[in-house]
Amino acid sequence: MEVAGRAYAPYSKFLVGAVLVGKDGRIFAGCNVENISFGLTICAERNAVFAAVAAGCREFEKIVIVADTEVPASPCGACRQVLAEFDPDLEIVLANFRGQTEMFRLSQLLPRPTAGILDRS
Ligand code: THU
Repeated sequence: MEVAGRAYAPYSKFLVGAVLVGKDGRIFAGCNVENISFGLTICAERNAVFAAVAAGCREFEKIVIVADTEVPASPCGACRQVLAEFDPDLEIVLANFRGQTEMFRLSQLLPRPTAGILDRS
């Protein structure tokens, strides 16, 4: 996935790309962007979500996440929570550069993302 090659990851050297497919057919790409103050780093997935929302798209078919790993890499907890804001059962496709893929639903990776928070069920 081309966007992974645009990741700014001088500290970890771990390049991640994410493509979010909107229900309207548009696609939104994100890559990780690191910072010398490490905690300011933003993951590929969240950058894709924020690009989509800024473009007026909030309904998604799926997200595809790609990294150069042995086993397809899973999204971090923060990204799971951000994705759940828009679709707690989103289809998540994980892939590596060799073309191996795995498919999950977000509800498998992050059960009960909003239970109790602000009194939501
Ligand atoms: N990273 C992502 O972009 N997405 C993930 O799901 C896991 C981690 C990035 C953050 C950081 O730039 C690097 O990978 C190492 O954690």
